[in-house]
This record gives sequence, C-alpha cells and structure tokens, in this order.
Amino acid sequence: MIEDQKITFRPMRKDDLDSVMVIDGLSFSMPWPKSAYLHDMIDNPKAMLRVAEGISTDTEKGIVGMIDVWLILDEAHIATLAVHPKHRGQGIATGLIELVLFEAHQRGASTAMLEVRTSNQAAQDLYRHFGFKVVHRRPRYYVDNKEDALLMNLEDLGTWVQSSRQVKIQQKTT
Ligand SMILES: CC(C)(COP(=O)(O)OP(=O)(O)OC[C@H]1O[C@@H](n2cnc3c(N)ncnc32)[C@H](O)[C@@H]1OP(=O)(O)O)[C@@H](O)C(=O)NCCC(=O)NCCS
Repeated sequence: MIEDQKITFRPMRKDDLDSVMVIDGLSFSMPWPKSAYLHDMIDNPKAMLRVAEGISTDTEKGIVGMIDVWLILDEAHIATLAVHPKHRGQGIATGLIELVLFEAHQRGASTAMLEVRTSNQAAQDLYRHFGFKVVHRRPRYYVDNKEDALLMNLEDLGTWVQSSRQVKIQQKTT
C-alpha cells in the first residue's frame, strides 16, 4: 500500500517506465508509447521528466504520478501530466506542477503553456489554480475524437514564482 501523505518528487528513471506506462494507460485515450518517454529521458536535454513517488509498504513500486515539460526557448510546455486514479485528489499533480514551474524558471523560462481537452474540466481547474488562462482554441486537435484543444498560458512565470515563494515563506512563519 502507498501512503499518499509521504510523497517525494524526483527525475524519472528508466526503471520507472513500467509504472509510468500503467498510469499513462489508465489516464489517456491516446497513451504515449514507451519510446516517447525514453526519447525525452535520453535524447532530449530540453525535457524535464519528473515522477511523484509514494512510500510503499509492500513490494509495489511507488510511482503515483508523472509530468513531462519541454523547455522551448523561453517557454515551459507541459507535454503530459497524470496521476494514478487511486491517488488523485491528494495534491500530487499540484506538487508536480509546482516543482517543474520552479525548475523551468530557474532554467530560463519566462512563460508556460499547455493544451488540454475542452472536456477535461478537472485539468482546466487544476491549471487555473496556478493562474493559467485560456488564450486560444485549436479546433479538432485530438485525432481520436476530433475534440478541440484549449491552449492555456501562464504568461508571467517570474511573477508566479515570486508570489509562490512569498506564500511559502508566510506558511513557514505562521
Ligand atoms: C488532472 C489530474 C492530473 C489531477 O491530478 P490530482 O493529483 O488529482 O490533482 P490535485 O489533487 O493536485 O488537484 C488540484 C486541483 O485540481 C482541480 N481538480 C483536480 N481533480 C479534479 C476533479 N476531478 N474535478 C474538478 N477539479 C479537479 C481542483 O481544482 C483541485 O483543487 P482542490 O483539491 O482544492 O479542489 C488527474 O485527474 C489526472 O491524472 N487526470 C487524467 C490525465 C489528465 O487529464 N492530465 C492532464 C492533461 S492536460
């Protein structure tokens, strides 16, 4: 059993991939092939692959979520994000996004963006928490059901980083 309260975040490794593929398959109608993760892990220095790992009290490997972000010039593009269905609603996606936004800013990103299905209200709400706003609609973007994509943008990553640091300092001192 994995205890959600004890989650750590770290770079994805090759031996995480079986767990990552399970989460991907449970989360998306068009899961990524393993080769896509391997490519980003090995051949793409602009990719930031991170996992959330729970402390496992049995032999089950404890990967409960993952994120992949591409740094494209000054932009952090959230390419994929998923949390295992058994572990949703515990702030794990929030932790993964915070981690990569801080790291992306340190590596020079000044803005962040992503595409999300119009029907994916949970993800849109999640991103709105961070200040992402819908800036564009891409008609029939998803090939499986021809659903539109919403393009969401966090325009000023620097301001987000500063205000998040401030909130963390306040939390520590109260
Ligand atoms: C979207 C997803 C990553 C959220 O993961 P999670 O760890 O459960 O998210 P968190 O617990 O950090 O939730 C943070 C906020 O997101 C929003 N949210 C998350 N799940 C939600 C749901 N089912 N319905 C509505 N809002 C939701 C809420 O605003 C929530 O804040 P709150 O808990 O204060 O209400 C997860 O549901 C998932 O893996 N979905 C399938 C894959 C996917 O859609 N990925 C995004 C592709 S763009």
